[in-house]
Amino acid sequence: MTDAIRAFYDAVAEDYADRFRDVFAAQPLELALLTGFAGLVRTASGTGGKVADLGCGPGWVTAHLASRGLDVFGLDLSESMLRVARRENPGLRFEQGSMREPGIPDGTLAGVVSWYSSIHTPQEGLPALFAGFRRLLVPGGHLLLAFQAGEKALRLERPFGHPVTLDFQRRRPDRMAEALETAGFTLVLRSERAADEEQGESTPQAFLIARRPPADRSGPPCAGHVRVVEGQVGE
Ligand SMILES: C[S@@+](CC[C@H](N)C(=O)[O-])C[C@H]1O[C@@H](n2cnc3c(N)ncnc32)[C@H](O)[C@@H]1O
Repeated sequence: MTDAIRAFYDAVAEDYADRFRDVFAAQPLELALLTGFAGLVRTASGTGGKVADLGCGPGWVTAHLASRGLDVFGLDLSESMLRVARRENPGLRFEQGSMREPGIPDGTLAGVVSWYSSIHTPQEGLPALFAGFRRLLVPGGHLLLAFQAGEKALRLERPFGHPVTLDFQRRRPDRMAEALETAGFTLVLRSERAADEEQGESTPQAFLIARRPPADRSGPPCAGHVRVVEGQVGE
């Protein structure tokens, strides 16, 4: 699965950047949410702490969070996306890697962001993905997720004319919130806004903020089970 995701975004990176470069100009609610997330992280971590934008793409979320005072870096599978991110956001740090095995020490991040990057993970891979996010966070650290709300996956074929195909999962926010709680998070915010058809959206957009409980100093729940699931699913 990882290879298909990387190949897809390597092919579309420049077109994706051209299509969505100014998207936040039409998304004041998203900007407010990102600013609110930055405030939560700063408040919880005192002097601050590192934040990872996992599946950062062109790095625009990374840049907005940095402008709000966070010590944030981006990570992505796709070298082409990272080339765009580095070019468009000089001065910020972007690294190649998988959010499933990011090579970041456990318990070291004040915040984790997955902004439309869990949308290619199959349903059965979500428990391991969320358990991994929780492990990365310090106790009291925050997670922000954005995704398309809905039930049916969309298969995108030949995007911008490139010969690649990828499934985009749409998910019910209540089910995602439950999955986060099962992974040991406490839900902080669940919000959904209507599809903006003028921007070409066909589904509502969902946003969840969750927190690793401050008193949680344990390992992941059912660690043995999670390892088995990771072994089965891979990416
Ligand atoms: C829809 S784009 C979103 C990019 C960016 N967050 C944004 O909103 O503009 C999804 C991004 O997630 C990345 N991605 C998907 N699965 C990933 C994984 N397992 N590890 C790292 N990056 C991943 C893709 O390469 C792609 O850049």
